Amino acid sequence: MGSSANKPQLIVDGKRISGRGPMDLRNLKITAGVLKKANGSAMIEWGNNRVLAAVYGPREVFPKHTTDPRKALIHARYVMAPFSSAEEHGRSGPNRRSIEISKVAKHVFENNVLVNQFPKTMINIDMEVLQSDGGTRVAAITAASVALVDAGIPVRDLVQGVSIGKVDGMQVADLDKNEDNYGESDMPAIVSLRTGEILLYQMDGKLTRPEVDNALSMIFEGAKKVREKQVEALRAKYETDVAPQE
Ligand code: CDP
Repeated sequence: MGSSANKPQLIVDGKRISGRGPMDLRNLKITAGVLKKANGSAMIEWGNNRVLAAVYGPREVFPKHTTDPRKALIHARYVMAPFSSAEEHGRSGPNRRSIEISKVAKHVFENNVLVNQFPKTMINIDMEVLQSDGGTRVAAITAASVALVDAGIPVRDLVQGVSIGKVDGMQVADLDKNEDNYGESDMPAIVSLRTGEILLYQMDGKLTRPEVDNALSMIFEGAKKVREKQVEALRAKYETDVAPQE
């Protein structure tokens, strides 16, 4: 949460300054299979966020001594390009924050990929933030889930999420950077709609118990919309892939 000095008014006449309603997500578009060399890939355009996800594997483990004879190792790497945001220029690249996001993404996918089917291998999941505007961890993991499926790697479910915040006392979905910086609370989460599981749940700021319950309902509602876009992306890729070759 940002400092309260220079805090802009985020809710004007009961409406978000972007004009969105409390549950409205920013424009969302996902494209699967954007990289030729990766086994799977996806580009997510979510509001002003642009994140590219690439998946390699299952492949031989490097360094070899880390090999697990029982399952595939998941290596996840989230990083912001140095040009991804004007405000924090020069503070991008691997840092405490990107290491944390890589770690939580790894946990999400360790519980999502059927790792026991691929012993002695590793799967690399790379998430590169090209442009950031709040909610990039959720956007990156959502894109990575599509990239994994695009790679043909068996998973329990497509996973996705949305960040629920509280701005000027109102609970709203999919915070942009301004709302994230100046809001009272931010709760990013990743869920599986098929199993009803919450795979990632982080929180910044303070919420009451009823607000947490409400945020959880909003997360599952938002996730349904995000999932539709993931399925659309994979369907579009699949339809072009099976089209007759020239
Ligand atoms: O992106 P997300 O909301 O998951 O993470 P955050 O740590 O809450 O950061 C919120 C936003 O601040 C990011 O999406 C970026 O737009 C911006 N940010 C940045 O520009 N440079 C950083 N080093 C960290 C955050």
